[in-house]
Amino acid sequence: MDIKALIRDIPDFPQPGIIFRDITTLLRDPQGLKYTLDLLSEQCAPLRPDYIVGMESRGFIFATPLAYQLNAGFVPVRKPGKLPAAAYSQEYALEYGTDRLELHKDAIPAGSRVLITDDVIATGGTAAATAKLIQQTGGELVGFAFLSELTFLKGRQALPDVPVISLIEY
Ligand code: PRP
Ligand code: MG
Repeated sequence: MDIKALIRDIPDFPQPGIIFRDITTLLRDPQGLKYTLDLLSEQCAPLRPDYIVGMESRGFIFATPLAYQLNAGFVPVRKPGKLPAAAYSQEYALEYGTDRLELHKDAIPAGSRVLITDDVIATGGTAAATAKLIQQTGGELVGFAFLSELTFLKGRQALPDVPVISLIEY
């Protein structure tokens, strides 16, 4: 199945000159959704993760069904101020300014195998910040899995040296 054919290109969103890859058209397609999640879980299974960490908000869409399929747990990384219990916090750079991501301190037992999952890797800032959060827990980062990768932004170079899975590239 052609995953890319189900992703809609929106020119000049959110800014002039940017082509936004709109995955809502893939997600709403029953065969497309099933095919994408099955392929992702097939490729991630050899990494044998205990926990799938997904980043708010689009990461949640893929991380939770992936956790279900791999008999792993799902752990959310959230935007600031959303998590109720004690949390680690990691700042990361945006195009203009900075943002922060947070992870519950007790979410990942030391020594457990962790896979980080998001919809897309662009600059790699979000994924790299999430990896730093995992480091603080004592969990073992075993890889990253993305639906898509914007290769021209070289986001992989920002990541630690573990396997990086992406189903499609732009
Ligand atoms: C988008 C996307 C990734 C991130 C990729 O999230 O869902 O998480 O950007 O960019 P990067 O590799 O340059 O960090 P965004 O923060 O826009 O929020 P959303 O998931 O809530 O839509
Ligand atoms: Mg996101």
